[in-house]
Amino acid sequence: MEKNFKRTLITTALPYANGPVHIGHLAGVYVPADIYARYLRAQGRDVIMIGGSDEHGVPITIKAREEGVTPQDIVDRYHNIIKDSMAELGISFDIYSRTTSDIHRQTASEFFRHLYDNGQFEQQTSMQPYDEQAGEFLADRYVMGTCPHCGSDRAYGDQCEACGSSLNATDLINPHSRLTSAPVTMRSTSHWYLPLNKWENNLRSWILDGHKEWKTNVYGQCKSWLDLGLQPRAVSRDLKWGVPVPVEGAEGKVLYVWFDAPIGYISNTKELLPDSWEKYWKDPETRIINFIGKDNIVFHCIVFPAMLMAYGDNYQLPDNVPANEFLNLEGDKISTSRNWAVWLHEYLRDFPGKQDVLRYVLTANAPESKDNDFTWADFQARNNNELVAIFGNFVNRAMVLTHKYFAGQVPAAGQLLPIDTAVFEDLARIKTSLESNLETFHFREALKDAMEIARLGNKYLQETEPWKLAKTDMERVATILNTALQICANLAVAFEPFLPFSAGKLAAMIGLTNPTWADLGRTDLIAPGTQLATPELLFEKIDDEAIQAQLDRLARIKEENRIKNFKAAPQAPDVDFDTFMKADLRVGTVIECEKVPKADKLLKFLIDDGLERRTIVSGIAKHYKPEDLIGKQICFIANLPVRKLKGIPSQGMILSAENADGSLVVIGPTAPVVPGAQVK
Ligand code: MF3
Ligand code: ZN
Repeated sequence: MEKNFKRTLITTALPYANGPVHIGHLAGVYVPADIYARYLRAQGRDVIMIGGSDEHGVPITIKAREEGVTPQDIVDRYHNIIKDSMAELGISFDIYSRTTSDIHRQTASEFFRHLYDNGQFEQQTSMQPYDEQAGEFLADRYVMGTCPHCGSDRAYGDQCEACGSSLNATDLINPHSRLTSAPVTMRSTSHWYLPLNKWENNLRSWILDGHKEWKTNVYGQCKSWLDLGLQPRAVSRDLKWGVPVPVEGAEGKVLYVWFDAPIGYISNTKELLPDSWEKYWKDPETRIINFIGKDNIVFHCIVFPAMLMAYGDNYQLPDNVPANEFLNLEGDKISTSRNWAVWLHEYLRDFPGKQDVLRYVLTANAPESKDNDFTWADFQARNNNELVAIFGNFVNRAMVLTHKYFAGQVPAAGQLLPIDTAVFEDLARIKTSLESNLETFHFREALKDAMEIARLGNKYLQETEPWKLAKTDMERVATILNTALQICANLAVAFEPFLPFSAGKLAAMIGLTNPTWADLGRTDLIAPGTQLATPELLFEKIDDEAIQAQLDRLARIKEENRIKNFKAAPQAPDVDFDTFMKADLRVGTVIECEKVPKADKLLKFLIDDGLERRTIVSGIAKHYKPEDLIGKQICFIANLPVRKLKGIPSQGMILSAENADGSLVVIGPTAPVVPGAQVK
């Protein structure tokens, strides 16, 4: 329900500091949140945007162990990469902090203790995987074994990456510890549970009755969780890395990462505003908006709100949780562990100064209502055909013409014609639509609205053709260019939330100082007589080479993953020695090699086999150019019955090895031998 509010608290999901951030994070969370925050600030509203790294949890401890460093080393590394790259992209956090800060550990600890003291937890005992050799309980991720579904022997206790099924550690066959390889046993352990069931009715009426305006994906997910019925959830873990459970006798136990992380929003607000943080959390006139991805919905709409209700003390619940779906990359799911991502810090290195291009493409393709795909071809096309050809082109024409006819000084408008006033009416209409899209988190549509202004400008110049009037009617040219420059000023205002770098550059070029959102739609934004700067291009074409380099990188990664995931075929049943010795294996030299017409897989070889010459047909045309094999030595089986392939009698078989990607490599001796040498 829309309510009157005095201030807005924007939170952004805290990214795990076990890797850098990628375009999926950006499109789902940080770019939309930043657009929204900038929009509210431009309106002069009271708003803060909170961010930070999520530095606890098991994946961080696993990464640390793999690299032989401490978890703190890992989070220090990635926290800094994430923080710097987001700043460079212009994500305008009021604070970007971290969950290993003292203030966070204190705040999370106090939060738990408050619930504990007020009897908000239940203690329950359960059986958990245990490593006798290490003397430690094992998180599900630390248990490895054979998948009961696909037989992969590298399945984890929470998921099998080979077949994608989600698992419990107890489902695995032959479970063993990733710490010591010892077989896993089960031990009983006691944890604190938050009884979500106790808050079910409150959550139902708050969301299902009170927030029907939420996005359908968010509302729908909440409804299905609530309809299934809520259960108590463990909020502690047997682990060394995390915020210690502040209760006597709880040694070796830490707060579950999903308990402490959302409290990070509170700690980071406290760190930003030590004296006034409470009004952002406890005043009903504050509006809280959580920007997240769809995998975070249950924690933000069910678990954290239940924690806040259990805490009491007037903590406010979010007013909206505009969660996004996922962004894929070139048709495949983005994955940190498979390195299938465009990493922000690498993008910034490869495309210096092109922050706004990425912001534009990610907004235009934001996975707002369904999963979407990022492709480099689309990235290039949107830059070249939209930013350069529409936005940049219009601004450049207006600037260049003003320099040409008025020495770069904004001319005064004279008598307006209907074609000019129509432009102003269109601007007003676009403004209304743009605002309503921004207010309702429809940023893709909002971006289209903003682009509409540039299209409008191009169309206006096309229709009025000031360059044709220059000889006859300079007064009219003055009016047209004044109008065009006012459109430029509107572009600078409208695009500030989306493309802050280009909007700033544009404003500076046309002498527009400190515009605010209220200026949007105005037609007197730059005063006649204002001196324009030298025109500079706002956007540049991106050439095919830059795009190809990115595609090549992705192809390399695919190949590396194939090799990593390659599993050798199980060994074949034994063959007796005498049978094997019947095969006559020899080395021959390729004299001729050519494609077999009308057979796209076959190559025809003429081989010097030391006796005479023989013809062999082999199915490797997809993997070799014939000329590359001439003169090479290859192994072949000499004593197979002659077989006709496409009518050609083949006198034997060339040996090749099949690679992880299915490609074939011909087998030959490692040093030259005489043709006809026997393979023994
Ligand atoms: N680190 C989590 C993720 O990347 C998000 C945490 S959001 C918070 O999925 F609310 F817990 F902070
Ligand atoms: Zn499996």
